[in-house]
Amino acid sequence: MKKKVLSMVLATSMVAAGLVGCGGGSSETAAPAAEAPAAEAEAEAPAAEEEAPAADAEAPAAAASGNKVGVAMPTKDLQRWNQDGSNMQAELEAAGYEVDLQYASNDVATQVSQIENMINGGCAALVIASIDGESLTTVLESAKSAGIPVIAYDRLIMNTDAVSYYATFDNYMVGTKQGQYIVDTLDLDNADGPFNMEITGGSPDDNNAKFFYQGAIDVLQPYMDAGKIVVPSGQIDFATVGTPGWATETAQSRMENILSSNYADGTNLDIALCSNDSTALGVENALAANYTGEYPVVTGQDCDIANVKNMIDGKQSMSIFKDTRTLASQVVKMVGQIMSGSEVDVNDTETYDNGTGVIPSYLCEPVFADINNYKELLIDSGYYTEADLQ
Ligand code: BGC
Repeated sequence: MKKKVLSMVLATSMVAAGLVGCGGGSSETAAPAAEAPAAEAEAEAPAAEEEAPAADAEAPAAAASGNKVGVAMPTKDLQRWNQDGSNMQAELEAAGYEVDLQYASNDVATQVSQIENMINGGCAALVIASIDGESLTTVLESAKSAGIPVIAYDRLIMNTDAVSYYATFDNYMVGTKQGQYIVDTLDLDNADGPFNMEITGGSPDDNNAKFFYQGAIDVLQPYMDAGKIVVPSGQIDFATVGTPGWATETAQSRMENILSSNYADGTNLDIALCSNDSTALGVENALAANYTGEYPVVTGQDCDIANVKNMIDGKQSMSIFKDTRTLASQVVKMVGQIMSGSEVDVNDTETYDNGTGVIPSYLCEPVFADINNYKELLIDSGYYTEADLQ
């Protein structure tokens, strides 16, 4: 039975990998997470393992067995997590697993208790998109001692050596693509400027948010240093521009304040660098309510339906497309590899240190979408139908 499941997993993964072409560049492999047979692992003293760095992706204290996979998602409020959850469920079930899929309404205590239930309910592996990457240390100690491998999904889980692997889109590249889009659209290499920019960042408790911010700033900094880009509000630091919980309303009210303090006299805002679509939506609402100047370049991420509609209406310039089908396929493949004790595909063993060591990661490649290519990326690929975007 186990073998049958494994071959189904591998077959599904191979097909999926061929179809989606996740990643880019060559894949490395990491040591299997569950090398030790259960009997040996049980007899082992835990001390030696605890000292091992996370990068080694050591075998959990006792390998969990069974066929159920727990999938913990942050919230149903944002479109992308609904897609991630249902893609994961469909692909895992197609590969022969039973799935316990839970959403936590962006509430950390709810997510912790859902994970506890997954551990107590016999899940043999956990896939977790955390709400607050810093808040799962204690609950994941139980996962580790129960021998349950953990994959951090999209967001890195910090300060715990219970995380075996991390799968995500290249978060830094998300930011560089947003920055480069601004450079290209405004022809910053040739234009004199100065262009006025305001920055709306992500949630400070989400490790991804720093990577998005830094990727964009690294591309834009030379133009800021040259005086081609200025930030009239003076709000530039990651800590100052953050949007707790990625909330649309928070991004909106902050931008309304910025607009009334700095742009009410008719000054043009040229660039609204927004880390993702939920924050971009807030900024777009603020622009609609409080701004009469020329419409700025507005960036986003996720290609949420509301934002793609705004793109079609000229209210958002671009979004980053992270095909959730790609990430789900990759993670299902990793689950199969972990559960069978095979080598696990990773393509980055340097970037993501969660405070206990570098977590071996698989980074999928994001692409930008705008008015010129959205049909090909989003409709021709079957991600959305024409009707979804009307
Ligand atoms: C994800 C983004 C998403 C944001 C808000 C981040 O961790 O990578 O795709 O827009 O969370 O949910």
